[in-house]
Amino acid sequence: MFYNHLMDAKTRYAELVRELNYHFNRYHVLDDPVISDAEYDKLYIELKRIEAEHPDWIAPDSPSQRAGARPADRFDKVRHPAPILSLANAFGADDARAWYERVRKLDDRVEKAKFVVEPKIDGLSVVLHYRDGLFVQGATRGDGEVGEDITSNLRTVKSIPLRIPVNCDQKAESGKQKAVTPPDYLVVRGEAFIPINDFEELNRKLEEAGEKTYMNPRNSAAGSLRQLDPKLTASRPITLLVYQIVHAEGGQVPTLQWEILEYLRALGFPVTDVAKRFDDIESAIAYTGTWDKKRDDLPYEADGMVIKIDDLTLAAELGFVGKDPRGAIAFKFPAREVTTTLLGIDVEVGRTGVLTPKAVLEAVEINGVIVKNATLHNFDYIKEKDIRVGDRVLVKRAGEVIPYVIGPVVDARTGTEKIYQPPSVCPACGQPVEHFEGEVAWYCVNAACPAQLVRNVEHFVSRGAMDIVGMGTKIVEKLIEAGKVSDVADIFTLTREDILESVTKKDRKTEKEPPGKIADNLLAAIADSRNRPLNRLITALGIRGVGEVSAADLAAHFGSLDALSTASADELQQIEGIGPNIAAGIVDWFGRPANQEVLKKLKAAGVWPKMQKMEGRKQEGAFTGLTFVITGTLPAWSREDAKAFIESNGGKVTDSVSRKTSYLVLGENPGSKLEKAKSLGVKIIGEAELKQLAG
Ligand code: IVH
Repeated sequence: MFYNHLMDAKTRYAELVRELNYHFNRYHVLDDPVISDAEYDKLYIELKRIEAEHPDWIAPDSPSQRAGARPADRFDKVRHPAPILSLANAFGADDARAWYERVRKLDDRVEKAKFVVEPKIDGLSVVLHYRDGLFVQGATRGDGEVGEDITSNLRTVKSIPLRIPVNCDQKAESGKQKAVTPPDYLVVRGEAFIPINDFEELNRKLEEAGEKTYMNPRNSAAGSLRQLDPKLTASRPITLLVYQIVHAEGGQVPTLQWEILEYLRALGFPVTDVAKRFDDIESAIAYTGTWDKKRDDLPYEADGMVIKIDDLTLAAELGFVGKDPRGAIAFKFPAREVTTTLLGIDVEVGRTGVLTPKAVLEAVEINGVIVKNATLHNFDYIKEKDIRVGDRVLVKRAGEVIPYVIGPVVDARTGTEKIYQPPSVCPACGQPVEHFEGEVAWYCVNAACPAQLVRNVEHFVSRGAMDIVGMGTKIVEKLIEAGKVSDVADIFTLTREDILESVTKKDRKTEKEPPGKIADNLLAAIADSRNRPLNRLITALGIRGVGEVSAADLAAHFGSLDALSTASADELQQIEGIGPNIAAGIVDWFGRPANQEVLKKLKAAGVWPKMQKMEGRKQEGAFTGLTFVITGTLPAWSREDAKAFIESNGGKVTDSVSRKTSYLVLGENPGSKLEKAKSLGVKIIGEAELKQLAG
């Protein structure tokens, strides 16, 4: 009896692992889940319970085995089963034609060849090993012969299947995957990367926490994968696309590149859907041109397209030039890097007092955009790169990322360049600057610093915060100058006269617009802002490390500023996403007498919202089981507001549209998500309908 029971439990466990992996893959690779998060969680809890009872059963491909490995001391070396090759570059169509002519002359079969065109992702090449379908090892490219063993880190990457094929008998007929059996030993290659949006979000979080930001998506992916603690990798939004079979033993694999992409997809690997096959080289070149124009539509950084001869046997027979196979070519997009002169370095004081250096450049055009300023990240960066004032510097503008200075062109130095000295006092108030242990940033800690006050008020009234329309920088500066505003709470006691005195010509849209009207509108906007929910007010306070997401979590957890202001660091850290740094920042903020004074004034002015407390963010409600995607700018809500609203009604918000998306919430200037939603027949609603839908 007992024996049978045990057998049943073991069978059930194996089934759970398979099923969970299947649903995990549908969510993270196909972006097309077939069960709700709640159903997934239920299965996962059942799995964890069995694993707790029978630790000896834990399967290497159990989803519980993705995170949690302990930090390593170093990376072992891994010899690749076949060389991990590079690619020769083509700059422009004529270069690509010249490549075609060269290979055609070498072998006239090229004349009849087909070509596969794929995006060339600017990421990190990784090599994944599967034995009997199980993910057993993952490595970096290294020098092409030997790489580093980063298996524990790669295991945390959600789009990497732990077992192939990813399939679940029960659901097989509904899935896209055909039944495919991989060879006994299969080694594949792909490009790991952080999507551009996620990269910007990651940098924002790092900056808020006073940590070093990454220069570009490529560096952030490489940095996140090539570090010793898998928990850190797990917290980074890394994904990958797989495009090559490096080695196969004990089984057949396709010999055409096009079929390989299909085959890898069928096994459950993430594969690009931008790839296309062409019957002749001219069509292939024309296709690369279309993506050159649309490259900003791609969710990742692509530095070109790869044109590959489809017949890999023919491609291999063409041989190599050095490390570059002749059978493929990288068709590079025009560079988005230029050199210009660094005229000076401005220092800006942020609202948290962070001092950030900004490059003042001799104006230069980068792909149609005039660039005059660029990011220099932080003072350490200037020193590390030895960037001097007067240097010729290399500047890059990529996608929507703010232009940044890559480094100096040392050979162009004339000797007149000046080594930069970071300021020892705040450029706005003259008080000494400070540096906190473990952070790269320098701060002005003077609470009365006028630059900070302007930034503080600007932040307080901004869209994601209290959203006070009409309170522009000029009015704010005037009000502060006139002594009418000495902290954010003063906004709520402003009189019509106070505002009238501070309205400048610049605030008037037309000569004729009476200042009285501006003042009335502003007063109305201030009155309206009194009704903002608690999460907005918390965001508005501008506590270091607390962005819109953390603010929503804090509001849901504490329900009022009274409760939040007395929370201990330990208590704060109970909330997911609030680490020791942010917790300390919150405690510090509420501990400062100047801030306590602001809170007292806000309370006295009646700006003291309360919110119902929630247990975590999972709620049951009108939206339970529904998935939403938000695109464009909504009329009143920030994305985080809309997300919090949907989640508090039990719904889920994802980043991309799939057939499983219940609604696309449409704002102004939507992205490509709108097209996709239309093509899939996803229902499209606005902010107002969203509110109605919740009842
Ligand atoms: S094929 C023989 N395909 O670009 C195979 N490479 O500049 C050679 N890359 O080292 C590589 N996307 O890291 C290939 N779709 C793609 C790629 C790709 C990105 C990277 C890869 C390679 C580098 C060459």
